Parts: sequence; structure tokens; C-alpha cells
Amino acid sequence: MNLNHFNFPALVLLLLAVACSSGPKKTVEKEDAIKLYTEKYRPQFHFSPDSAWMNDPNGMVYYDGEYHLFYQYYPDSTVWGPMHWGHAISTDLVHWQNMPIALYPDSLGYIFSGSAVVDWNNSSGFGSGENPPLVAFYTYHDPVIVEAGGVDVESQAIAYSLDKGRSWTKYKGNPVIPNDGNRDFRDPNVIWNEDIQKWNLLLSANDHVQIYTSDDLKNWKYESDFGIDAGTHDGVWECPDLFPLQVEGSDEIKWVLIVNINPGGPNGGSGTQYFTGDFDGHQFTADSKETKWVDWGRDNYAGVTWSDVPKEDGRRIFLGWMSNWDYASVVPTERWRSAMTLPRTLSLTKKNNQYVLKSATVKEMELIFDKSSEISLDEALIISGVKELDIQGLTLNQSHLSAEFETGETLPESFGITLENELGENVTLSYSVTAHQFQFDRTKSGDMSFSDKFSGIAFAPYKIGWTVKLEMFVDAASVELFVDGGELVMTEIFFNSQAFSKLQVFANGGHVSLTKAKFVNINSIF
Ligand code: FRU
Repeated sequence: MNLNHFNFPALVLLLLAVACSSGPKKTVEKEDAIKLYTEKYRPQFHFSPDSAWMNDPNGMVYYDGEYHLFYQYYPDSTVWGPMHWGHAISTDLVHWQNMPIALYPDSLGYIFSGSAVVDWNNSSGFGSGENPPLVAFYTYHDPVIVEAGGVDVESQAIAYSLDKGRSWTKYKGNPVIPNDGNRDFRDPNVIWNEDIQKWNLLLSANDHVQIYTSDDLKNWKYESDFGIDAGTHDGVWECPDLFPLQVEGSDEIKWVLIVNINPGGPNGGSGTQYFTGDFDGHQFTADSKETKWVDWGRDNYAGVTWSDVPKEDGRRIFLGWMSNWDYASVVPTERWRSAMTLPRTLSLTKKNNQYVLKSATVKEMELIFDKSSEISLDEALIISGVKELDIQGLTLNQSHLSAEFETGETLPESFGITLENELGENVTLSYSVTAHQFQFDRTKSGDMSFSDKFSGIAFAPYKIGWTVKLEMFVDAASVELFVDGGELVMTEIFFNSQAFSKLQVFANGGHVSLTKAKFVNINSIF
């Protein structure tokens, strides 16, 4: 969110008025839960809060068999307000158990985004060798300073848990990093750096990222910054993350720096850029100053990765907020607002001498594939014009679709896939051979009346080869598209008034072969 352009005090007053007029806080009755989770637009296999407003994922950490997901949460309304950290736990990254709110705002301010780590050696002294503390890092955003027109609005703070993330104690010495004069100064992300045997903390400060080191998680030394002359600068930099990845098929290690930006995303509003480079624990040096995008869709923001996934597992797992600040507050869901993306395993590959960050959904997703519903193609189909596929038994609105196209020598002008309902509402993914880009069209997707920034076509430049593999997860009101094993990703939401039931493939101005296709229903996680 671009807080500089945000009329914050006015919003707070508005929220208070809304909260007061709507009476006491609503709570979800257990017996209502099933009903609520099947309400219109409710994702069936993505994490969404059972009620109220959610934005960024926070404090993602794995400990003792549990993946913790904290998130920016305002429990009293379906629009953004005084931020808390909501909390959910999963043992498989697929099914989530809602937990009580972990961090409440206090006299130092709202609890903005951040991260969490396991302090294995108890360097902070908050726990013990036998019971290492979980330490969370967050930004205090002080509404009193905002009201007074000050700039030192944001500072960094810590809290710890000694009971596997169930309860949290805020550190008495907060803030641990006071404001440095940047009004946008937030979203601390902490990693243990093996190479220098120190902790690193990354912070976004308006138009750059700052890097700090520490031995004890409480005292931080500023080291360097990155980004004033790199990347995109059409908005504020937010929610950074930094981690090493081994380049596929080699021993080479590269560091990946993720920096979210809003606005200035590749298709308007929020977006997630990344850089690859080298990091010596003190300074990040990028291979190229050019921005690359983690996701070309309009609905993957503030994504960062899980800390402390065991070495034996070895994965770097990413999760983003499946919305966009351009319209997040007005999307037509009634009881809750927004969901997270599916968790994705990140990998790094080298293509045409460039490092490319790939995303693939975690393998655990297959736990909820309803194998009995699987439909696959018997023989290749030549597609010329529009062909509706026979998908009897498939619940298209809650499915996994994979398809492989072969383009041959006589390329068409474009080809792709359309998901449509009986009312003619649809979303279309197409590849334009002439423009060398994928296009996701949601201009006829259903309800778009809530914002004039919502409709439109998202573009993603990409050069396909002789064959191209497409994979889509469709869940009620979203599609996540992965091209060629995740070399290109697009995440898009929409609000179709009736479930999609027809699946069409098409080729304009020529033909393509659909050589492989497999479709399967995905079970609800509720
Ligand atoms: C990103 C963001 C963060 C901030 C949080 C506030 O979406 O603006 O920079 O910490 O949301 O809710």
C-alpha cells in the first residue's frame, strides 16, 4: 500500500464510524462454518480468513512439524484498518487451522508486515537451548504520529514465543530499529546467514532496501542499501526477502532478492519484482539492474518465503496475497476479503544466459486431487477455430488443468483456453504468436462493477518453443497459471456470477495440436 498517498486519519475515523454503526463484532459460529465456507466466491483450496479483512502473509516460519502463516488482519471490518497479525497453522501446506490472533496493536502502533525465525541457538536469550524461541519481526506503524503529521511513523520491533507460536510476548526494548527519517520504513525480513554466522535483516525504505546484521536479533547494525538505481520505481518498495538458491543442473549458488512494489506492477497496481545476484552478508550485488517479475498476473502481492524449512526438505516456499491494492478493498465478497495464493516452491534456472526464477505449486497439492475424476486426452487433437472439450464429471470451478500444445511449423496467430459459464461470462488465456506474449483476459469475467481498475487484459512477454506446457489451478474466483513448469506465472482473480462449466481450446489464423491434457477435480480443504 502506498501510505504516503493514503488519507490515513480520515480512514481511521471512517472505520470507527463503520465499526460503531454495525454494532458488536461479529463472530463466526462453528455450526455456520460449513455454510460460510461455501458462500459465493469462497476459495475451496486456498487459505482465506473465515471473516474480515486480510492482506499480506507475515511471519512465515516452519517449526516442529508446523507451517505457521501469520497475516495482516483487521478483525473488525472487511476493509483495511488497525493491523493485527492473524494466525493459521498447517502440517501439510494445504489444510489450515485457524488460530487466535497472535499480535494486537498497542500504544506503539499498528502491527505491520514482517517475518519470523527459529532462534535455534537462543542468541536472543528469550528462550533456552532446549526450547529455542520463535522470534517475530514486525513494523510498528504509529497512527498518532501520522495524525500529528510526523515522518517517523514506522519502526521495527520484535516479539517471541516459547510455546510453538501459540502465544507471543512483545520485547520490552522495542523498537529495535528506530525510524531513520524515511516515512516508508517497514516489513523487516530476517534470515540466518550461514556464511557470516550472523543474522541479516532486510527492510524496505521508500525506494530501496536496507541491509542490517546482528548477533542477537535485538541489536542491529546498518550495513548497506540496494535499489535506488535498480528496478522499477513507479511505487513504494515493500516486503523484501533474500535467500540463496542453487542453480538447476549446477553447483552455482545465487541469491534472490524479492521486492514488492505498489503501484508499478507489470499490469498495473501491485507487483513482485526480483533480482538475482551475490550477497556477502553485508552487501547485495545484482547481476542486472533490470526488474524481473515473480508473477505477471495482477493478483499476487506481498509474497515472501517460509523460514526454517528443514534442510532435508530443502525447499524455498513462497506465498503471496492474491489481490491488488488497486481494488482489494472493494471486491464483491461479503464476509471476508481476499485469499492467499497457493504455496509455491521456487527454483532458479539459467536460460539464454539469464537467471530465471521458477515457481511451481508445492507437491502437497496432490493430496487433494480427486484422482477418480481424472480425465485425460486419448489422442492428440488438431485445433483450428474453437473446440469445446468434453469434460463430463469435472467441476471446472475447482480443478487442476494441464495441457500441452505443439505449435508445429505453421504457427497460428494465437491460441489458448477459455473457461466459460452458461451466462457467457468467461476468462481467456491466450498466447499471441505475433506479439510473443501470454494474455489473460477478464473483460467478460462477471462482476466488474466495483472498480474501473479491475477489468482488462494482463500481458506477459514469453517466447514459446515447439511445445508449450500450461498448468492451471482454478478455484472459484481465481486462476493460477504456470507455463513450462513455472518459468512464467500469472495469478488472476475474477467474480463470475455462476460457476464455469465449459472448457474451450482455440486457435486463430492457423492450427495447433493439443498433444496432452489432464483435468482433475480438487477436493475442498474444509
Ligand atoms: C503491503 C503493505 C506493507 C505493510 C502492510 C500494511 O501490502 O503495505 O508494506 O506493512 O501492507 O498492512
